[in-house]
Amino acid sequence: MSSNDVSYDTSIPNNIDLGADRRVLKALEKWHPGYLDWWMDMGPDGFQSSEVYLRTAVTVDIQGWAKFSFVKMPEYRWGILLAPKEEGRTIPCGKHKGEPAWQEVPGEYRAMLRNLIVIQGDTEPASVEQQRFLGKTAPSLYDMRNLFQVNVEEGRHLWAMVYLLHKYFGRDGRQEADDLLARRSGDQDHPRMLGAFNEATPDWLSFFMFTTFTDRDGKMQLEALSQSGFDPLSRTCRFMLTEEAHHMFVGETGVGRTVQRTCEAMNEAGITDPYDIEAIRKLGVIDLPTIQKKANIHISLSLDLFGSEMSTNAANAFTSGLKGRYKETAIDDDHQLLNDTYPVLKLIDGKFQTVDEPAVSAINARLRDDYVYDCRKGLQRWNKIIANNNIDFTIAAPHIAFHRKIGEFANAFVSPTGEVVDEAEWLARKDEWLPSQEDGEFIASLMKPATGVGEYASWIAPPKTGIDNKPGDYEYVKLD
Ligand SMILES: [Fe+2]
Ligand SMILES: [Fe+2]
Repeated sequence: MSSNDVSYDTSIPNNIDLGADRRVLKALEKWHPGYLDWWMDMGPDGFQSSEVYLRTAVTVDIQGWAKFSFVKMPEYRWGILLAPKEEGRTIPCGKHKGEPAWQEVPGEYRAMLRNLIVIQGDTEPASVEQQRFLGKTAPSLYDMRNLFQVNVEEGRHLWAMVYLLHKYFGRDGRQEADDLLARRSGDQDHPRMLGAFNEATPDWLSFFMFTTFTDRDGKMQLEALSQSGFDPLSRTCRFMLTEEAHHMFVGETGVGRTVQRTCEAMNEAGITDPYDIEAIRKLGVIDLPTIQKKANIHISLSLDLFGSEMSTNAANAFTSGLKGRYKETAIDDDHQLLNDTYPVLKLIDGKFQTVDEPAVSAINARLRDDYVYDCRKGLQRWNKIIANNNIDFTIAAPHIAFHRKIGEFANAFVSPTGEVVDEAEWLARKDEWLPSQEDGEFIASLMKPATGVGEYASWIAPPKTGIDNKPGDYEYVKLD
């Protein structure tokens, strides 16, 4: 058995010879019941005894790492999976650049490193909590299965961070691991750490937007952490990225199928004006302007996750070598940013201006810009569906200053197209730009479960292909 293969012999599946590390195995076994309690309390509401066609990793190789089988979610084999060790890997950035990657926690950066792991770890269970009621309104068994797959994998991502805390941080690591099970998304007293992870995910379009845009923030953070000079974190995140790709696939194709169904219904009814909202809604589909509004809110909330454009914390994480930039090793510069600048968009005296700032202080701005670029592919795919249906409408990302709570544009009044407006105008036009209560009620009215084999809700098209080469009308979840 190579270290790429996952051992399912111990109570906790792993590819790191956990059986030989009694201390960590014991700590994780002690944490496990609390995790299961959390899963039963805060994981998918209902369906815990249904058989779900889930994938489980059997190797950490890029190719063919998953096996598919029917599993009850509480019996899912959550485990510890790290990408293979790269021999001779060095720290890719910061003042230790070129030194051998750390295999143990560098003492001087211990607190900063623990904090990075805890913040990443906190997002994982949060999204499961946010999505816990969606199973009841699934638009098909296929979608329900995808939701649950995302949920169990976010659960596994929590395991991944908890492993690092237990293995490398002793007593305070154990405390943090326990706290990760104690905070709750949206809770008044013990909320999750980041804003977007305390927002509701009230309907399936929100879920698809969340997995498109907020999981993509997750991808960017994991990309940056996978460049860490702390090798166990790098390897952990590299494997998580292979799972994350599926989450964004679920989101992008979910929105795409929603768009497809809307366009088909419009064409069948002979409606050409995408703004003929009342008539379109009567068809039992979600009008494109409302889909745009949903994109606006999810993109703006996700942009806030990158933190302030200019950040001392981010500079310190980079300079210490704990967190790199997106594709750090592929960037052609000194990887230390001693004299480099980076152009940062700012709002100065009511006008947008690009200001060259010290690159090391603008690490967050750069990652956010990389994110915005990465988002375009999904938008292009949706717009292609609209164009193929001969409808005159484009879904666009809102201006990065729109509806922001954190950083340079916090509390600025900016429209989705980037006009600076005053507060009165912003408030007057808010419902044109963000989902209104009425929009929410309309979408909620469509959220009726479609759970017959091969059945799909009125507002979403079936997928082109199913999961694991199964057809779209496969019984992906066996309801009891
Ligand atoms: Fe995750
Ligand atoms: Fe994810």
